[in-house]
Amino acid sequence: MRVDYAELAKVVGALTEGEDDVVSLMATVACEVHHADDRFDWTGFYRVVGPELLKIGPYQGGHGCLVIPFSRGVCGAAARTGEVQLVPDVEAFPGHIACAASTRSEIVLPVWGKGGVLIGVFDIDSDQPDAFDSEDARGMGAILAAVFAG
Ligand code: SME
Repeated sequence: MRVDYAELAKVVGALTEGEDDVVSLMATVACEVHHADDRFDWTGFYRVVGPELLKIGPYQGGHGCLVIPFSRGVCGAAARTGEVQLVPDVEAFPGHIACAASTRSEIVLPVWGKGGVLIGVFDIDSDQPDAFDSEDARGMGAILAAVFAG
């Protein structure tokens, strides 16, 4: 089934209401988003843990690589630029980091905390080619803003 972002936002909002622990919030978002759509084969966060450095956070799916510098991968590009990365074909993305050989497409969004500080990135991998679009970027971005920046 394809995710209904308005409904997903309501569910995530209800589950996270009043919570400010970032790890708890990330774990809840990763879980709810992952199970909301069959396109999502790996769903998770990478946290900013130092200058130009990401480390894995809560996720769903097979094991993910633990450390990603801002200089590498799709996650690094999202962190470096502050822009959503919509990747229809991971093989065509220079420096893509393949945590699973089955991944064909990917979306990575920057995660902004209170005060507009970059706290991490949110990564979804799909085994389907060209699985993501601007609606996913909009819907997911709205949920991340409500949970982490609100
Ligand atoms: N594909 C990501 C790495 C994270 S694994 O996919 C979970 C990247 O290129 O940054």
